[in-house]
Amino acid sequence: MNKNKTPIIIGSDHAAYQLKEKVKVRLAEQHGIEVEDAGTHSEVSVDYPDFGSKVAQAVSTGKFERGVLICGTGIGMSMVANRFPGVRAALCNDLFSAIMSRRHNNANILVMGGRVIGDVLAMEIVDAWIETPFDGGRHQSRLEKFDRIVC
Ligand code: RB5
Repeated sequence: MNKNKTPIIIGSDHAAYQLKEKVKVRLAEQHGIEVEDAGTHSEVSVDYPDFGSKVAQAVSTGKFERGVLICGTGIGMSMVANRFPGVRAALCNDLFSAIMSRRHNNANILVMGGRVIGDVLAMEIVDAWIETPFDGGRHQSRLEKFDRIVC
């Protein structure tokens, strides 16, 4: 199976609800990707950790290979998601970061800030993130060090 087409779980808080809806359409229509929506489902105020943890847990346990999280800045969602083992959540509010988060970091969750970037840039970031493969090689051995870090 083309890795680019593996199903994606997506979540946001109220601040990024509108952008989440647009990203869902982009993933489905532009990329033919099946999307599971972990919420939120409106612009009523919610707590981003509740939705960030749903998506991150699904990726951490292997239920989904990839996820997308969006909040106002993307900062809170990335903080939450990176607490989960095996999750490599990358906050990408620019195109270069999105590409490099795949090439060098094999990011498995894309995080964006809906109050930071506009819709057009968000779609460019999503497209690049979906289409860019991991470089592997020396970057793989660096990622393997993550699991050997003693805190
Ligand atoms: C919600 O107001 C806002 O704090 C949240 O979307 C996010 O930006 C947190 O990091």
